[in-house]
Amino acid sequence: MKRVAILISGGGSNMVALAESMAGDHPARPVLVLSNVPGAGGLARAEAMGIPTEVVDHRDFKSDRQAFESELISKIDEYAPDILALAGFMRILTPLFIDHYAGRMLNIHPSLLPKYRGLDTHARAIAAGDAEAGCSVHEVTAELDGGPILGQARVPVLSGDTPEALAARVLTMEHRLYPAVLRRFAAGDRTLVTLP
Ligand code: GRF
Repeated sequence: MKRVAILISGGGSNMVALAESMAGDHPARPVLVLSNVPGAGGLARAEAMGIPTEVVDHRDFKSDRQAFESELISKIDEYAPDILALAGFMRILTPLFIDHYAGRMLNIHPSLLPKYRGLDTHARAIAAGDAEAGCSVHEVTAELDGGPILGQARVPVLSGDTPEALAARVLTMEHRLYPAVLRRFAAGDRTLVTLP
């Protein structure tokens, strides 16, 4: 059975989708939910599901990213995870952290990568007049939002869409795509998942 640590910074809806999916014949189980934001909504949701939680507040380390990440690594490794799933974890990670978990760390990004790396993905898709948008699950490498893509889900961009409306439509697909990719990844299968 693979052990999965989930890193969050906010409400944790993807974390809940992942944790709920890891049941029955799923090859993995959640062993930790960690946030860099004390009081993040996802922490209470994880505790309600009986998953251990931890907080490592990046602000305690000011601009010393190495010190923050060293503390992050030592806290996470107390739970000996096989896989890390970044789920709305809003810190840019350095090679110190990425190399330590190389080949076993996933992230979900709300665009059809390689389009729209970074922030404000939905506003950028609407501004570009794209007919479709979506989300991607990729392996985390030193290239921000640039690692190998393991899954993608597409949704239409509707006329009159606001970034918020599009984000809500994409989030629904995120909650299907991320669990589907994690199930394959935990079984050692990196075949691309495409939805719908
Ligand atoms: C998601 O849209 C994810 O793609 C992005 O941040 C958001 C996190 O949402 N990186 P939640 O905390 O999982 O609800």
